[in-house]
Amino acid sequence: MTAPQLTLIAIPGIPLIQPGDDLAAIILQRLTDANLNLHHGDVLVVAQKIVSKAEGRLLPLDSVQPSNRSLSLAAETGKDPKLVEVILRDSREVVRHRRGVLIVEQRNGFVCANAGVDHSNVPARDGRPQVALLPADADASAARLRAQLRDATGKDVAVIINDSHGRPFRLGTCGVAIGVAGMAPLSDRRGTPDLFGQPLRITTVGTADELAAAASALMGQGAEGQPVVLIRGAAFDPAPGTVRDLLRPREADLFREPVPPSAVTNLLYRRQSVRHYAHRPVDRNTLEELIAAACAAPSAHNRQHWRFAVVTKQAVKARLARAMGESFRQDMRREGLPLHEIETRAGRSYHRLVDSPALILAGYSTSDAGSPVAGGQQPLNAAPPSKIEETMAIQSVAAAIENLLLAATAFGLGACWVCWPLFCPDVVREALRLPADFQAQALITVGYPAEAPPRRERFPLETRAFWFLEEGA
Ligand SMILES: Cc1cc2nc3c(=O)[nH]c(=O)nc-3n(C[C@H](O)[C@H](O)[C@H](O)COP(=O)(O)O)c2cc1C
Repeated sequence: MTAPQLTLIAIPGIPLIQPGDDLAAIILQRLTDANLNLHHGDVLVVAQKIVSKAEGRLLPLDSVQPSNRSLSLAAETGKDPKLVEVILRDSREVVRHRRGVLIVEQRNGFVCANAGVDHSNVPARDGRPQVALLPADADASAARLRAQLRDATGKDVAVIINDSHGRPFRLGTCGVAIGVAGMAPLSDRRGTPDLFGQPLRITTVGTADELAAAASALMGQGAEGQPVVLIRGAAFDPAPGTVRDLLRPREADLFREPVPPSAVTNLLYRRQSVRHYAHRPVDRNTLEELIAAACAAPSAHNRQHWRFAVVTKQAVKARLARAMGESFRQDMRREGLPLHEIETRAGRSYHRLVDSPALILAGYSTSDAGSPVAGGQQPLNAAPPSKIEETMAIQSVAAAIENLLLAATAFGLGACWVCWPLFCPDVVREALRLPADFQAQALITVGYPAEAPPRRERFPLETRAFWFLEEGA
């Protein structure tokens, strides 16, 4: 009886690959040089890096202009903003991040660090550092290579493109398949007998990943220069498959999301009121994006009653805080609070405002709240808006504020809704020299969080909603 064997051979002499190189021709030449032939049923494992290089998936970092989102993620992760920009452009979603770590769902569905963007073994071009992105479609790259090898040799081989990924529950990177051709990447063993004749019930083997990892052990990670490995003797199903077969559907992933799965709901549950900010300014572009997000909210009759005043100028913040503080003092004196209590509270609120890198005052225009459905300005001396119209204006502003808070979360900013202007709308209008029809509703403090705020729990759903559902729904 012959002992089962799996043979792995690193094809020697693969040169440094350049954009536009014909990988199939290079591999075939090196096979010939090494007196090796391809056999039916061989598996050729090719390192992602040389596929990316051959396909020109290289980018000089200095050609990249980071967006506001990249800048804030870069600040949080400590990564180069340009690198973060490249990563985000090739990603569908940021899955997790913290200092030094950026895990995303890459465009093709791989949940991995940095979207697989990497500068190891990537040469600078004309002195400009470059990074390599994953192939745009590694299944297609594998299929092309397989077809070229078959055309040249008449042999049917499977091709795997592999990369090294970290894994959430184990340390150490490991080779995984990111593209396959000529094989089913999974082997469904259900129904086959175990040693004792019992049928296996749930075993599905990730064959392509196992072979990718085996090849990776021979390729090495650094300067070994052995990016192509021939595997002979592997058992696999030659049925056509794609790497997507290896990706656990999101709805079947019990670990990925502690909250409902879409990016929007993720944001929704991440938002928290942030009351302490780092000494770091929020730039105008970012503030404009927040206002744009606010203005995307629904509004009654689409009247867009909201108005905003955005303040980062320290002198204006101080003027507003002083004026509001004086009004609070009067209110508290009327309520009979002891003097020291009044001063402590007034001092605290003063500092909350002047220590926030940005303040956004949100209100509505009383002219809009009373104008006809078609919208448009109404003279200031028009009849006061009806109570319901006014309520709708207030609701519309509230919707806009929530949009703004969510957008702030998306940008890595913290924000807090502060209701104080409700107690002194005239003082606020006056302090900021706003038009007479500006009805202040809330101040939103905005900045980069100094610390993660404590989470405030919500009441159980059954205490907040009445349900009238169809049977079986
Ligand atoms: C209408 C409204 C008024 C609020 N006013 C204040 C306020 O004056 N000061 C403050 O620190 N937080 C204020 N908040 C924030 C709430 O305290 C906060 O949303 C709530 O405690 C839940 O915490 P979370 O936002 O972290 O989930 C206000 C929120 C709303 C919706």
